[in-house]
Amino acid sequence: MKFALYSDIHAQVPQLNAVQAAVDKENVDKEIVVGDLIMLGPEPEKVVDNIRSRKNTDVVVGNLDLWVVNKRWETHQPKSPHQAWMFEMAKQTRERLSEEQLKWLKMLPFSLSYMAEPGHEFLIFHGTPHEIGDESALPLRLSEEKVKAHLTGVTADIMAHGHIHGPSVRKIGEQTIVCAAAVGMSWDGDPRPSYAIVEYMGDGKWDARVERVEFDCEEQASFNENCWIENGDRIAGMIRSGYFWNPDHMPH
Ligand SMILES: [Fe+2]
Repeated sequence: MKFALYSDIHAQVPQLNAVQAAVDKENVDKEIVVGDLIMLGPEPEKVVDNIRSRKNTDVVVGNLDLWVVNKRWETHQPKSPHQAWMFEMAKQTRERLSEEQLKWLKMLPFSLSYMAEPGHEFLIFHGTPHEIGDESALPLRLSEEKVKAHLTGVTADIMAHGHIHGPSVRKIGEQTIVCAAAVGMSWDGDPRPSYAIVEYMGDGKWDARVERVEFDCEEQASFNENCWIENGDRIAGMIRSGYFWNPDHMPH
Protein backbone atom coordinates (compact mmCIF):
# COMPACT_ATOMS: atom_id res chain seq x y z
CA MET A 1 0.00 0.00 0.00
CA LYS A 2 1.33 3.41 -1.00
CA PHE A 3 0.40 6.65 0.81
CA ALA A 4 0.97 10.33 -0.04
CA LEU A 5 0.92 12.70 2.92
CA TYR A 6 0.85 16.49 3.08
CA SER A 7 -0.08 18.97 5.78
CA ASP A 8 -0.03 22.51 7.07
CA ILE A 9 -1.73 23.92 4.00
CA HIS A 10 -2.64 27.01 6.00
CA ALA A 11 -5.27 28.39 3.64
CA GLN A 12 -2.82 28.70 0.74
CA VAL A 13 -4.44 27.50 -2.49
CA PRO A 14 -1.63 27.74 -5.12
CA GLN A 15 0.83 25.78 -2.95
CA LEU A 16 -1.87 23.14 -2.42
CA ASN A 17 -2.46 22.92 -6.17
CA ALA A 18 1.29 22.51 -6.76
CA VAL A 19 1.57 19.69 -4.20
CA GLN A 20 -1.55 17.91 -5.46
CA ALA A 21 -0.27 18.07 -9.07
CA ALA A 22 2.93 16.33 -7.92
CA VAL A 23 1.02 13.80 -5.81
CA ASP A 24 -1.21 12.99 -8.80
CA LYS A 25 1.87 11.57 -10.55
CA GLU A 26 2.78 9.27 -7.66
CA ASN A 27 -0.08 6.77 -8.20
CA VAL A 28 -0.81 6.26 -4.52
CA ASP A 29 -3.54 4.13 -2.97
CA LYS A 30 -4.44 6.74 -0.35
CA GLU A 31 -3.80 10.44 0.34
CA ILE A 32 -3.65 11.71 3.89
CA VAL A 33 -3.84 15.35 4.95
CA VAL A 34 -2.03 15.68 8.27
CA GLY A 35 -3.84 18.69 9.72
CA ASP A 36 -3.68 22.49 9.75
CA LEU A 37 -5.73 23.09 6.64
CA ILE A 38 -6.56 26.63 7.75
CA MET A 39 -5.09 29.69 9.55
CA LEU A 40 -2.03 31.70 8.46
CA GLY A 41 -3.50 32.22 5.02
CA PRO A 42 -6.13 34.07 3.01
CA GLU A 43 -8.43 31.35 1.61
CA PRO A 44 -9.51 28.86 4.30
CA GLU A 45 -12.93 28.22 2.70
CA LYS A 46 -11.34 27.20 -0.62
CA VAL A 47 -8.86 24.84 1.04
CA VAL A 48 -11.60 23.13 3.05
CA ASP A 49 -13.70 22.66 -0.11
CA ASN A 50 -10.69 21.35 -2.02
CA ILE A 51 -9.86 18.71 0.59
CA ARG A 52 -13.49 17.69 1.13
CA SER A 53 -13.89 17.01 -2.59
CA ARG A 54 -10.53 15.29 -3.03
CA LYS A 55 -10.98 11.61 -3.82
CA ASN A 56 -9.49 8.83 -1.73
CA THR A 57 -8.28 11.25 0.94
CA ASP A 58 -8.36 10.90 4.71
CA VAL A 59 -7.72 13.84 7.04
CA VAL A 60 -6.55 14.35 10.63
CA VAL A 61 -7.15 17.60 12.47
CA GLY A 62 -4.39 20.09 13.33
CA ASN A 63 -4.04 22.36 16.33
CA LEU A 64 -4.82 25.54 14.40
CA ASP A 65 -7.90 23.95 12.82
CA LEU A 66 -9.13 23.42 16.38
CA TRP A 67 -8.31 26.98 17.43
CA VAL A 68 -10.89 28.14 14.88
CA VAL A 69 -13.43 25.36 15.53
CA ASN A 70 -13.29 25.71 19.33
CA LYS A 71 -12.99 29.53 19.40
CA ARG A 72 -9.76 29.42 21.36
CA TRP A 73 -9.83 33.18 21.83
CA GLU A 74 -12.84 32.76 24.12
CA THR A 75 -11.16 30.28 26.47
CA HIS A 76 -7.47 31.29 26.44
CA GLN A 77 -5.53 34.44 27.11
CA PRO A 78 -2.89 35.12 24.45
CA LYS A 79 0.55 34.30 25.90
CA SER A 80 2.38 36.76 23.61
CA PRO A 81 1.78 39.48 21.02
CA HIS A 82 2.32 36.72 18.47
CA GLN A 83 -0.61 34.74 19.92
CA ALA A 84 -2.79 37.85 20.11
CA TRP A 85 -2.20 38.27 16.36
CA MET A 86 -3.07 34.60 15.80
CA PHE A 87 -6.24 34.80 17.93
CA GLU A 88 -7.56 37.71 15.89
CA MET A 89 -6.73 35.80 12.69
CA ALA A 90 -8.56 32.73 14.05
CA LYS A 91 -11.65 34.82 14.74
CA GLN A 92 -11.65 36.24 11.20
CA THR A 93 -10.88 32.83 9.67
CA ARG A 94 -13.98 31.46 11.38
CA GLU A 95 -16.11 34.19 9.83
CA ARG A 96 -15.03 33.03 6.35
CA LEU A 97 -16.19 29.44 6.92
CA SER A 98 -19.76 28.15 6.68
CA GLU A 99 -21.43 26.27 9.55
CA GLU A 100 -21.19 23.15 7.43
CA GLN A 101 -17.45 23.58 6.87
CA LEU A 102 -16.92 24.15 10.60
CA LYS A 103 -18.94 21.02 11.39
CA TRP A 104 -16.79 19.00 8.99
CA LEU A 105 -13.58 20.31 10.59
CA LYS A 106 -14.94 19.48 14.04
CA MET A 107 -15.54 15.84 13.04
CA LEU A 108 -11.93 15.25 11.91
CA PRO A 109 -10.07 12.64 13.95
CA PHE A 110 -7.00 13.33 16.10
CA SER A 111 -5.14 10.40 14.51
CA LEU A 112 -5.45 7.67 11.89
CA SER A 113 -4.03 4.18 11.88
CA TYR A 114 -3.53 1.77 8.97
CA MET A 115 -2.58 -1.85 9.49
CA ALA A 116 -0.58 -2.98 6.44
CA GLU A 117 -0.42 -6.49 7.88
CA PRO A 118 -1.03 -7.77 11.40
CA GLY A 119 1.65 -6.21 13.60
CA HIS A 120 2.68 -3.61 11.01
CA GLU A 121 0.96 -0.37 11.74
CA PHE A 122 1.28 3.11 10.24
CA LEU A 123 0.11 5.84 12.67
CA ILE A 124 -0.62 9.43 11.61
CA PHE A 125 -1.15 12.49 13.85
CA HIS A 126 -0.54 16.24 13.57
CA GLY A 127 1.78 17.11 16.47
CA THR A 128 2.78 14.14 18.66
CA PRO A 129 0.98 10.80 19.24
CA HIS A 130 -0.52 12.11 22.50
CA GLU A 131 -0.86 15.90 22.00
CA ILE A 132 -2.09 17.91 19.04
CA GLY A 133 0.78 20.38 18.97
CA ASP A 134 -0.22 23.26 21.25
CA GLU A 135 2.05 22.00 24.03
CA SER A 136 4.53 19.70 22.31
CA ALA A 137 6.04 18.82 18.95
CA LEU A 138 8.67 16.60 17.33
CA PRO A 139 11.22 19.01 15.82
CA LEU A 140 14.42 17.57 14.35
CA ARG A 141 16.55 19.22 17.04
CA LEU A 142 15.05 16.92 19.73
CA SER A 143 17.40 14.16 20.87
CA GLU A 144 16.42 10.54 20.28
CA GLU A 145 15.70 10.19 24.02
CA LYS A 146 13.35 13.18 24.02
CA VAL A 147 11.50 11.90 20.95
CA LYS A 148 11.16 8.47 22.60
CA ALA A 149 9.53 10.12 25.60
CA HIS A 150 6.75 11.37 23.29
CA LEU A 151 6.25 7.89 21.82
CA THR A 152 5.34 6.09 25.05
CA GLY A 153 2.97 3.23 24.31
CA VAL A 154 3.20 3.62 20.52
CA THR A 155 3.99 0.32 18.81
CA ALA A 156 3.53 1.41 15.17
CA ASP A 157 6.41 0.56 12.78
CA ILE A 158 6.13 3.98 11.23
CA MET A 159 4.51 7.31 12.08
CA ALA A 160 3.81 10.51 10.15
CA HIS A 161 3.12 14.00 11.49
CA GLY A 162 3.02 17.62 10.36
CA HIS A 163 3.11 20.84 12.41
CA ILE A 164 6.83 21.67 12.45
CA HIS A 165 7.07 22.91 8.83
CA GLY A 166 10.22 21.03 7.84
CA PRO A 167 9.97 17.65 6.11
CA SER A 168 12.19 14.74 7.20
CA VAL A 169 12.45 10.99 7.68
CA ARG A 170 13.99 9.95 11.00
CA LYS A 171 14.83 6.59 12.56
CA ILE A 172 14.16 6.34 16.32
CA GLY A 173 15.29 2.90 17.43
CA GLU A 174 13.28 0.43 15.37
CA GLN A 175 10.61 2.99 14.52
CA THR A 176 10.48 5.53 11.70
CA ILE A 177 9.04 9.03 11.98
CA VAL A 178 8.15 11.03 8.88
CA CYS A 179 7.38 14.74 8.92
CA ALA A 180 5.30 15.63 5.86
CA ALA A 181 4.90 19.38 6.50
CA ALA A 182 4.47 21.83 4.99
CA VAL A 183 2.41 22.93 1.99
CA GLY A 184 1.67 26.55 2.93
CA MET A 185 5.03 27.82 4.16
CA SER A 186 8.27 26.24 5.40
CA TRP A 187 10.37 27.05 8.44
CA ASP A 188 13.48 25.03 7.52
CA GLY A 189 14.98 27.54 5.11
CA ASP A 190 13.72 25.90 1.91
CA PRO A 191 10.61 27.78 0.74
CA ARG A 192 9.39 25.00 -1.55
CA PRO A 193 6.20 23.16 -0.49
CA SER A 194 6.62 19.51 0.48
CA TYR A 195 4.89 16.16 0.74
CA ALA A 196 5.87 12.66 1.84
CA ILE A 197 5.46 9.20 0.36
CA VAL A 198 5.20 6.12 2.60
CA GLU A 199 4.90 2.64 1.10
CA TYR A 200 4.59 -0.78 2.63
CA MET A 201 6.94 -3.16 0.81
CA GLY A 202 5.89 -6.35 2.62
CA ASP A 203 7.67 -8.42 5.31
CA GLY A 204 7.50 -5.56 7.79
CA LYS A 205 9.51 -3.24 5.50
CA TRP A 206 8.47 0.34 4.79
CA ASP A 207 9.86 2.90 2.35
CA ALA A 208 9.58 6.58 3.22
CA ARG A 209 10.78 9.71 1.45
CA VAL A 210 10.01 13.41 1.42
CA GLU A 211 9.76 15.54 -1.72
CA ARG A 212 9.86 19.27 -2.39
CA VAL A 213 7.82 20.87 -5.15
CA GLU A 214 8.98 23.76 -7.32
CA PHE A 215 6.81 26.80 -6.68
CA ASP A 216 7.14 30.39 -7.80
CA CYS A 217 6.19 32.08 -4.54
CA GLU A 218 6.22 35.80 -5.38
CA GLU A 219 2.62 36.16 -6.56
CA GLN A 220 1.23 34.28 -3.55
CA ALA A 221 3.53 36.17 -1.16
CA SER A 222 2.21 39.50 -2.36
CA PHE A 223 -1.38 38.18 -2.26
CA ASN A 224 -0.84 37.40 1.45
CA GLU A 225 0.77 40.79 2.01
CA ASN A 226 -2.30 42.57 0.67
CA CYS A 227 -5.09 40.27 1.92
CA TRP A 228 -7.54 40.65 4.84
CA ILE A 229 -5.03 39.34 7.40
CA GLU A 230 -3.49 42.00 9.61
CA ASN A 231 0.31 41.94 9.23
CA GLY A 232 0.01 39.67 6.20
CA ASP A 233 3.59 40.71 5.41
CA ARG A 234 4.73 38.30 8.15
CA ILE A 235 3.18 35.41 6.23
CA ALA A 236 4.51 36.74 2.93
CA GLY A 237 8.02 36.75 4.42
CA MET A 238 7.71 33.09 5.43
CA ILE A 239 6.44 32.12 1.97
CA ARG A 240 9.35 33.92 0.31
CA SER A 241 12.16 32.88 2.65
CA GLY A 242 11.17 29.50 4.12
CA TYR A 243 11.93 30.88 7.62
CA PHE A 244 9.64 31.80 10.50
CA TRP A 245 8.77 35.50 10.33
CA ASN A 246 10.26 36.41 13.70
CA PRO A 247 13.79 35.04 14.22
CA ASP A 248 13.44 35.56 18.00
CA HIS A 249 10.37 33.35 18.19
CA MET A 250 10.46 29.95 16.54
CA PRO A 251 7.29 28.14 17.63
CA HIS A 252 8.81 24.70 18.11
FE1 LIG B 1 0.24 22.88 13.58
